[in-house]
Amino acid sequence: MKRGFLLTLVGMTALAAVGTGCAYTAAALFGGIGGAPQAALAVAVNPALIKHGQYVATAGDCDACHTAPGGDRFAGGVAIATPVGTVYATNITPDDTTGIGHYSYGDFERAVRRGIRPDGSSLYPAMPFPSYARINDEDLQALFAYIRFSVPAVEHLDRPTSIAWPMSARWPLTYWRWLFAPQVRANTFSAVNDPLRSRGAYLVESLGHCGACHTPRAFTLQEKALTDADGPAYLTGAVVDNYVANDLRGDVVTGLGSWSESDIVTFLQTGRNAQAAAFGGMSDVIQHSTQYMVADDLGAIAHYLKTLSAHRSDQFIHSAASGAALAAGDVSARGALDYLNNCAACHLSSGRGYSSTFPALADNPVVNAPDPASLISIVLRGAAEPATGSVPTRFTMPSFADRLDDQEIADVLSFLRSHWGNHAPGVVPGAVAKIRVMVNIQATAYRAGDVEVGSAGARATPPATR
Ligand code: HEC
Ligand code: HEC
Ligand code: HEC
Repeated sequence: MKRGFLLTLVGMTALAAVGTGCAYTAAALFGGIGGAPQAALAVAVNPALIKHGQYVATAGDCDACHTAPGGDRFAGGVAIATPVGTVYATNITPDDTTGIGHYSYGDFERAVRRGIRPDGSSLYPAMPFPSYARINDEDLQALFAYIRFSVPAVEHLDRPTSIAWPMSARWPLTYWRWLFAPQVRANTFSAVNDPLRSRGAYLVESLGHCGACHTPRAFTLQEKALTDADGPAYLTGAVVDNYVANDLRGDVVTGLGSWSESDIVTFLQTGRNAQAAAFGGMSDVIQHSTQYMVADDLGAIAHYLKTLSAHRSDQFIHSAASGAALAAGDVSARGALDYLNNCAACHLSSGRGYSSTFPALADNPVVNAPDPASLISIVLRGAAEPATGSVPTRFTMPSFADRLDDQEIADVLSFLRSHWGNHAPGVVPGAVAKIRVMVNIQATAYRAGDVEVGSAGARATPPATR
């Protein structure tokens, strides 16, 4: 990743040499300019507008990055790891000197939808402005009114990035923005044929910035597609902070092909459903954002996701034989004994788990993800189901970091990935060792009070429960 970014810098330097005139044309073509800094809020501020803005802030999950754990709302300070160093989310309370109290509506619009600061320099795309470019005027005006006139101002200085020169220079970011940020334009979510799908597309592609985690990124770190219309890579899954943000398309084995719309709604509302339970960065998304969204909007998101075509044609062929062998005490398969001793008490020898309590591991897209990062992370770190308003109970999975070595974890995960109907490549001990190092570094930082979030806002989970 680091090397990729350096090459990017070299590429950007080359671009710079092309000359400002040329670049300006590129900007006009690719949509990196526009938005009048002086623009004033064109609507009357009233309680209804502010209430709407509060909902927009929730759907956009501004808290994920701009509210530090235990810190004041929107006062910033959350550290976000990027391949070149740490970027800190800023104070977006209406404080005049340390926050955005001096922002006009135009300044706010340019920062949120275009990644441009009032001084004309560019924001790091750790701020998901390529997704927010699609937020409509109505929502953005309400969001501004909410933050400006209702969030308490907090004096809190922004922390400078830990990125060393020359990577710390912001001008290459401007070229990145010109090349990769989409044009801000009037609503393209046509409501003609299927208004529910349009609403869902809007929420997923803009405010929800689901693609920031769930869409793979190119060498130059932009998402390979920002909408379904952009290309087939959209929401096909990516690794964030050592967890796989799964394929959300119609694929049966790796995606949401076997989930109904109501399964998706239940997951986003409560953090679990009959098949799965949320963990890693998704726990935070549910806890801070989706659990508070109205049922109609969650239904729209689910409806939209279910319209995304599969990119693989695999199917599950469930095999009862693996469960029967385990139940009969046959542990001849590699990893089977480790599974019986450590996992079966909760996930059962049938791999079926207990609905809405201990997720099923049989026929499970999380288990079948091409990259085993999530599986390794959850076994090393353990997990606690998110606490949501409707389901406050938090069932936990213990950490196995001290109990199983790299070989044993690789064996038990390879067993999971090749039994009951699952069929994904085996896991090698080296892959476990790599993630173990990262998990140890994060746990040490966490204990030292330096809480970091992943590159797309995934808050580091506290050290695993023992
Ligand atoms: C995934 C993390 C993330 C999310 C989600 C996020 N931001 Fe940001 N935001 C950042 C980071 C990081 C910066 C600072 C980037 C930099 O220094 O270049 C930033 C900068 C900003 C700025 C520029 C502030 C300044 O000091 O000049 C504004 C305004 C802003 N964000 C508003 C929002 C709003 C409103 C939302 C919700 C709709 C939001 N952000 C959601 C990470 C995030
Ligand atoms: C901060 C990164 C992040 C963001 C933003 C994010 N997700 Fe996730 N998501 C994850 C991770 C990591 C997982 C895997 C862990 C899990 O299954 O809970 C996941 C899993 C899921 C799953 C379960 C998939 C399965 O097969 O079990 C669904 C559904 C989902 N996300 C939907 C969404 C939607 C819809 C959005 C936007 C509103 C979204 N996610 C935004 C990180 C993210
Ligand atoms: C004490 C009960 C318990 C034990 C023992 C246990 N787990 Fe879990 N497991 C859970 C719970 C609870 C969750 C849901 C965690 C969450 O969502 O935060 C879970 C989640 C998972 C998931 C994610 C599934 C999904 O779709 O959300 C995997 C994979 C997993 N466990 C594998 C294992 C393996 C492998 C072992 C043995 C090494 C194991 N578990 C042992 C309780 C347990």
